[in-house]
Amino acid sequence: MVNRLHGGGVLVTIRDVAKEAGVSTATVSRVINNKGKITKETQAIVERAIKDLSYTPNVLARSLSNRKSYAVAFIVPTITNPFFPEMARAVEDVARDNGYNILLCNTDDKRERFAEYITSLTSQFVDGIIVNSHNMEKSDLEALQKHNIPVVMIDRVLDSDLATSIAVKNREGARMATEHLVEIGCERIAHISGMEEEWNSAQRMWGYRDVVGDLPWFDQSWIGKAAFNVHSGYQVAKEIFSRHPEVDGIFCANDLIAIGTVKAAYEWGKKIPNDLAIVGFDGINMSEQTVPSLTTVLQPIYDMGQLAMEELIKKMEDKEEKPKKYVLDVDLLIRESTMRSSTLQKDI
Ligand code: RIB
Repeated sequence: MVNRLHGGGVLVTIRDVAKEAGVSTATVSRVINNKGKITKETQAIVERAIKDLSYTPNVLARSLSNRKSYAVAFIVPTITNPFFPEMARAVEDVARDNGYNILLCNTDDKRERFAEYITSLTSQFVDGIIVNSHNMEKSDLEALQKHNIPVVMIDRVLDSDLATSIAVKNREGARMATEHLVEIGCERIAHISGMEEEWNSAQRMWGYRDVVGDLPWFDQSWIGKAAFNVHSGYQVAKEIFSRHPEVDGIFCANDLIAIGTVKAAYEWGKKIPNDLAIVGFDGINMSEQTVPSLTTVLQPIYDMGQLAMEELIKKMEDKEEKPKKYVLDVDLLIRESTMRSSTLQKDI
């Protein structure tokens, strides 16, 4: 017989599940906590009973018994750039499937806020942290290690052996983007980079320079610096248009900058892609919806988030010891912003 809650709800206990499954409460507990030996068959029976009775384990009791909070923090620089929510979605999916909850921490790209989060997270009993931030310093990693809080770094990573890192081939992606602009016939290609101190922006800038750096027309004035957002991309694109009205291709360090560049081109009367071809970086869902749709360097955003959470779970459950470095492939996704009419194309 199950207990009635105030207000008419029904409180299902671990005993009810055990009775329904025909096993002991200890067995149910082993299934819930994924600890101890259990046959696949028993596990399936217990999981069926949990589902049938809509049983939710008492998180507090579970935490007290195994000293875990089942809470994981995901630190992001901003929630206004869809890149990060798209990644958070993957982190959350894997977390939910494994019984963890996510705390989303938005640092606004500020060191101060980042440091505040680290201080409060170390005293708040999170089981692990996924960090996507240029604001992290080595001392933060050391502090987290002292508190036995496993960390996985993703996308904006530090060069350190203290934590697993997951990034993409930024420089190679930038080279692919710039080479594509050359191949479709662009002769004066500018780059709008992110901020220099951002490691992945610097990599993308070097990838662009690998392709155009030795050409006779190239100098530093072909590179503009923007923040990773639409407004900044728009402003910097206009600066490039006035400095170099002859520009016929732009590689932007992310999709939001590219979207700002599309707007600036429209206002400047430049037709995309024949007057000006544009390539972004990231492959956020929105890049397909713009007019014209954006050619972009596709990062495996969802896969990165998924991998980060899977790696963190291994660390939190003591199944993995050594930190790893993942550097994932990117792809060039060709869309309308570089599909020039064939007369303008050089023979490839
Ligand atoms: O759009 C956000 C950018 O910041 C991405 O390019 C990603 O790599 C991140 O660091």
